[in-house]
Amino acid sequence: MSVSIRRAGRRIPLAMVSIRPAKLFDIPEVVRIERASFNEEYPRGVFLAFLENNPSTFLVAEYGGRVIGYVMGYLRPDLEGHIMSIAVDPEYRGNGIGSALLTEVIERLINEGARYIGLEVRVSNETAIRLYESFGFRKIKRIIGYYSDGEDAYYMLLPAEEWGGRN
Ligand SMILES: CC(C)(COP(=O)(O)OP(=O)(O)OC[C@H]1O[C@@H](n2cnc3c(N)ncnc32)[C@H](O)[C@@H]1OP(=O)(O)O)[C@@H](O)C(=O)NCCC(=O)NCCS
Repeated sequence: MSVSIRRAGRRIPLAMVSIRPAKLFDIPEVVRIERASFNEEYPRGVFLAFLENNPSTFLVAEYGGRVIGYVMGYLRPDLEGHIMSIAVDPEYRGNGIGSALLTEVIERLINEGARYIGLEVRVSNETAIRLYESFGFRKIKRIIGYYSDGEDAYYMLLPAEEWGGRN
């Protein structure tokens, strides 16, 4: 019998998770999840400014009164809806929460006029790349030394007209 560590986190029913726009009081929890998820951290002020400028596309996942994931999207003047950051509390990964956040932000950005959805991802982040590819994102280019530690990024794009939900 093979044992999977993939599903080792907490199992929770997705129906009990609500995806909603972030509020000011959510920022400490968002920062906690960001710190647990990335080596590079945005200063707290970045989250506050982002919320002020993009209140309908900065979303959180809430479960049992607790924030357990977030996604930050914004519409660029060139009509690319860009995903700036997405993360789920490590304890709750593998429950479909990342997919639910991504689905909701893509739909909101397209409703706001996005023609493409774009993002950058570390070339080593296979979990995220697989997630994005299952949504129809394609690698468009490799950006050499994109991250401050020197790692390259893939720039990935999903044309709005190809969006029909996750595969
Ligand atoms: C990427 C991330 C947001 C996904 O969140 P999640 O809630 O675990 O995502 P889901 O449960 O919806 O899983 C979506 C897909 O991701 C992949 N995946 C999720 N957890 C995984 C794991 N532990 N190992 C391997 N693949 C995994 C699978 O392809 C999965 O699809 P499936 O369940 O149909 O097989 C989460 O892993 C995370 O916060 N990572 C750290 C931050 C990060 O890398 N963000 C992206 C930066 S560009």
